[in-house]
Amino acid sequence: MTKYRADLTVLSSTDVAQDFTLLRVSTHDIDPVIAPGQFAELRTVTPTGNLLRRPISIHDYDPKAHVLSFLIRRVGDATKAICRLRPGDKLDTVFPLGNGFPLDKAGNRPLLVGGGVGVAPLMLLAKQLISCGASPVCAFGAKTESELLLIDEFSRLCPVHISTDDGSKGIKGFVSDLPLFSPSELSSFSSVMVCGPTPMMKAVNNRVASSSIDCFVSLETMMACGIGVCLCCVTDTQEGNLRVCTDGPVFNTKSLKW
Ligand SMILES: Cc1cc2nc3c(=O)[nH]c(=O)nc-3n(C[C@H](O)[C@H](O)[C@H](O)COP(=O)(O)OP(=O)(O)OC[C@H]3O[C@@H](n4cnc5c(N)ncnc54)[C@H](O)[C@@H]3O)c2cc1C
Ligand code: FES
Repeated sequence: MTKYRADLTVLSSTDVAQDFTLLRVSTHDIDPVIAPGQFAELRTVTPTGNLLRRPISIHDYDPKAHVLSFLIRRVGDATKAICRLRPGDKLDTVFPLGNGFPLDKAGNRPLLVGGGVGVAPLMLLAKQLISCGASPVCAFGAKTESELLLIDEFSRLCPVHISTDDGSKGIKGFVSDLPLFSPSELSSFSSVMVCGPTPMMKAVNNRVASSSIDCFVSLETMMACGIGVCLCCVTDTQEGNLRVCTDGPVFNTKSLKW
């Protein structure tokens, strides 16, 4: 899969919730092939003190309109600087990176599970699964209602089940507490694909582990180069240490030492 390094033009930057920005950029005349779950390494073109690019999942991609989207939580200097960009500004982008979720292993009724900003890669995943004839179902969890992201947009694609830690929306509890994870309901799913904080992904995997269903998780480790060179992102697997940026970020949990 061809990788690109380009200064892409920002089309829009929209606050979708407190601390969360939806950033849309133009891919110009580039025609990238992007698998859902792949990510990009981003930084502002004008130096802000952060020399290293930051890994951000590809949220959506419209190849006809040449528009690439990112859903970004503004946590530190780099993400804040990226989210301050305005239409016409340039975004230094290396993409697409990593392996992505395996569409061929999703089956006809995959369960897509997102925690917080972990819903980011699930938009393109849901769209591509639907275009392949699958009927995904989403389960999203967040601390509180205001941190549930793009629920209306996801609900236009497929059923969405919700949990919040404080009970402000959906069931009160963690996403893994949703009735969908009871053995009888879980058995109706063909696979489980997860992105979110590691404890949440481990809790989901614990619910799925006793079934025969494959569970794929997108790991979020610290990354520097994003292209397999610096080895700062390695994770311990049944096959030894693997690089999350190039061998992942998506892994079948059976291959992880969880
Ligand atoms: C494959 C991958 C995909 C990602 N996709 C998204 C996405 O779609 N949207 C999004 O908002 N974020 C995503 N992230 C996380 C994002 O890369 C970090 O939030 C970002 O690098 C923080 O940079 P910063 O300079 O703004 O903050 P920093 O000042 O570097 O860090 C702020 C805080 O975030 C923590 N942090 C930094 N990097 C990471 C990381 N990689 N994982 C966990 N905690 C981190 C730091 O420990 C610190 O507490 C992804 C990470 C990976 C590895
Ligand atoms: S981030 Fe450098 S090897 Fe993965």
